[in-house]
Amino acid sequence: MIGKEQIQQVLLAWYDRCGRDLPWRADADPYKIWISEIMLQQTRVDTVIPYYDRFLRALPSVEHLAQVSDDVLLKLWEGLGYYRRAANLKKAAGQLAEQHAGRLPGEVSELLRLPGIGPYTAGAIASIAFGKPVPAADGNVFRILARLTGRKDSIDDTEVRKELTALVSSWIPTDRPGDFNQALMDLGATICLPNGAPVCAKCPLQRFCRAYTEGLTQDIPIRSGKKPRKIEKKTLFVIKWKGRVALQKRKKGGLLENLWEFPGVEGWLSEKERRSALDSWGIQADQMSAMGAARHLFTHLEWHMEGYLAEASHVSEADRWIWASPEELTTVYPIPSALRYYLERL
Ligand code: ADE
Repeated sequence: MIGKEQIQQVLLAWYDRCGRDLPWRADADPYKIWISEIMLQQTRVDTVIPYYDRFLRALPSVEHLAQVSDDVLLKLWEGLGYYRRAANLKKAAGQLAEQHAGRLPGEVSELLRLPGIGPYTAGAIASIAFGKPVPAADGNVFRILARLTGRKDSIDDTEVRKELTALVSSWIPTDRPGDFNQALMDLGATICLPNGAPVCAKCPLQRFCRAYTEGLTQDIPIRSGKKPRKIEKKTLFVIKWKGRVALQKRKKGGLLENLWEFPGVEGWLSEKERRSALDSWGIQADQMSAMGAARHLFTHLEWHMEGYLAEASHVSEADRWIWASPEELTTVYPIPSALRYYLERL
């Protein structure tokens, strides 16, 4: 079995040599660490970097974030996905401004009270920004640990995760907990890659790794089967009128809350049904042309879309939607990436 001192020393030495130079590692400002960790939930480092820089320029403090309008906030988040994260950030900033003088707390238990912060993110913030010796164990860390220890049970199992979290907790060095956790993150992102493709030749932990010595790196970690995604068919209408395009705000409480979208209906409609949908909205369209089919994958859901461009000659209920100019489409209204295919073909 691997010794604690050995793994600390080897991992930290590797991190000092090979750790990634990332913008949120330039200083340990808790606000910046918090923003980066929320953005990095479910999202790759390369994608996050430009969003992170822009977000901090626009909203450099908890107070700025607490007061930002929803549209400006979502526009800063547009394309990052999992938009609930942005709403939770603003809510948490309000809480911090009211209860903590605008500062993030350093204890995991207090961080966990903020919306959008779960055990992984609380551990990451507490260790990186506050030097607390706590773990930040996510799927990447579970993969590394399962390989290291040669575990052949599923890392999706709650008990297995608990045991692996306890193991990594016992390894965290008190002097550099944030670096240790980030070393594991970098190892998971650059060396101990998923889907049977690890780069073991470059791994600092190779000689300690049971999956490696047993020739099982292709087979570990074991994952339990995921549920297939639900499929939703949709028909979207890109309705143009006087050089503007109809948008509606998505409802509160659901997927993509408060983002803007083209009007649409569930299911794939026949030509006759498309005509009657437009009629029912008071749209008279001389031209309706197919824009093609597009798909978007969410975590638990797939949208299978068919889009139609309708050139309206008369609109009797203009107030039903907002009518966005081409300029406003890019600068004002946050629109989900799921609709990018149609936005690009306007
Ligand atoms: N993923 C989550 N947190 C991270 C961090 N601090 N650095 C790199 N990747 C991460």
